[in-house]
Amino acid sequence: MGDGYTVEQNGPIGIAVVGGGYWGPNLVRNAQQTPGLHLEYLCDLNADRARQVLGNYSTVRISTSLDEVLADPAVSAVAIATPAATHFDVAMRALEAGKHVLIEKPLAPSYEEGRQLVEAAERLSRVLMVDHTFCYTSEVRHIREVVRSGRLGDLQYIDSVRINLGIVQPDVDVLWDLAPHDLSIFDAILPDDVFPVSVAAHGSDPVGAGHACVAHLTLRLSNGALAHVHVNWLSPTKIRTFVVGGSNRTVVWDDLNPTQRVSEHDRGVDRIQSELDDADVRGRRLVSYRTGDTVAPALANLEALRSVMVEFAAAIAENRRPLTDGFAGLRVLAILEAASESLAKDGQSVPIRAIQETPRTTAGVIEDVPTTMAQRGRGEVTV
Ligand SMILES: NC(=O)c1ccc[n+]([C@@H]2O[C@H](COP(=O)([O-])OP(=O)(O)OC[C@H]3O[C@@H](n4cnc5c(N)ncnc54)[C@H](O)[C@@H]3O)[C@@H](O)[C@H]2O)c1
Repeated sequence: MGDGYTVEQNGPIGIAVVGGGYWGPNLVRNAQQTPGLHLEYLCDLNADRARQVLGNYSTVRISTSLDEVLADPAVSAVAIATPAATHFDVAMRALEAGKHVLIEKPLAPSYEEGRQLVEAAERLSRVLMVDHTFCYTSEVRHIREVVRSGRLGDLQYIDSVRINLGIVQPDVDVLWDLAPHDLSIFDAILPDDVFPVSVAAHGSDPVGAGHACVAHLTLRLSNGALAHVHVNWLSPTKIRTFVVGGSNRTVVWDDLNPTQRVSEHDRGVDRIQSELDDADVRGRRLVSYRTGDTVAPALANLEALRSVMVEFAAAIAENRRPLTDGFAGLRVLAILEAASESLAKDGQSVPIRAIQETPRTTAGVIEDVPTTMAQRGRGEVTV
C-alpha cells in the first residue's frame, strides 16, 4: 500500500466485522453500504448469532475463528465490536496480522493497553480508528464549529447528561460504557488550547451490580472552565442533553427533541464594567442579563456510523490518520483511568495525564507491512 490504496487499482477494501452482538449488526450494515468497502466476513464466537445477523441469502462468509479471518489476504481491514474487555487482544492480533483496525469505544480496557495499540499501529503503519460515533453526527460537527470558530466566545462550562434504562454491562461500569461518548465529544469540540487537566468522579451501585451504575464526573479544563458528565443506566426516563456555555453564545443540544435538536442562544450573563472601586460596588449587582435571539440551525439527518465507515475507508485509501484516531481514543482512556482512580478515592481530584501526539503522517508515508516481526522497523511514538 506504499502509494495509497485506490479502488481502481486494488478493488474495494476487504473488511471483516468481528462481533455480531448488539452493536455489530450496525457495523455490518454500514460496511455493506459504504462504497470502497467490501464485507468479506462476520466473525463471531457464536455462529448462530452471526447467521441471524446476516440472514439466509447473504454471501458474506461466517467464521468463528479470528485466526482464519486474519489469515485471509482478502481481508485488509477489521471492524471490532466485541466486548470492551476483549478489545486489546482482538485489535492487537489484527494489527500484527497487517490489518487496518476500526474499533468500538473504548479503545482498550486500560490506558497502557491503548498505548500499546497506538504504538503498534504507528510501528506497523496501519490505520487505527476508534468508533467515537457521536463525533460524526451533524450536531457535534455544528457545536465544534461554533466553539472552535470563536462564535461561542470564551468557553465557560459544559454539561452533558446521558441517562436511561441501559444494559447493565457485566465487564465494565457505567463510566467506561457510556462516558466515552461524552468525553470523545469534548475531545472533538474543544479548541486546541483547551484540554481537561483533572477529574473528580463519584459513582454508586444501588442495585448491587458489582460496579457503578450511576456516575458523575467533574472535569477541570485548562482554561479554568468546568465540564460535567452524568451517566446512568438506571433512569426510567431517557435524557440526552449537552450544553456548552460561552461568553457570547450558549449551545444546547437535546438529542431527543425531534424538531429542534440544537439551539444557539445569544443569551447569557455579562459583567457590568464599573468605575467604582471595590468598596463601592460590594453588595450591588455586578452582572447584567443578555436576552438576544435563539437560532435553531438546519442540520442534516445522516447516520453517524455511515460517516465513520466512510472516514475509515478514506483514511486507508489516503494513507492518513482518521479524525478519531488512536490518539483520540487514548485521550479518552486517560480521562477514564483518572476518573476510575477518583471513584476509588471517593471523588478526590485526580490529574489527567497529557499525551504527546506524533505528527500526523502525510499521504504516502504509510508503507507496506513487512511479513515477519523481525523485518518490522520501529516508528517514533511518544505516548
Ligand atoms: N458506538 C456506540 O454507540 C456503541 C453502542 C453500543 C456498544 N458499543 C460497543 O460495541 C462493543 C460491543 O458491544 P455489544 O453491546 O454489541 O456487546 P455484545 O455482548 O452484545 O456482543 C458482542 C459479540 O461479540 C462476540 N464475541 C466476543 N468475543 C469475541 C471474539 N474474541 N471473537 C469474535 N466474537 C466475539 C460475542 O459472541 C457477541 O456476539 C463494545 O465495545 C461496546 O462499547 C458501541
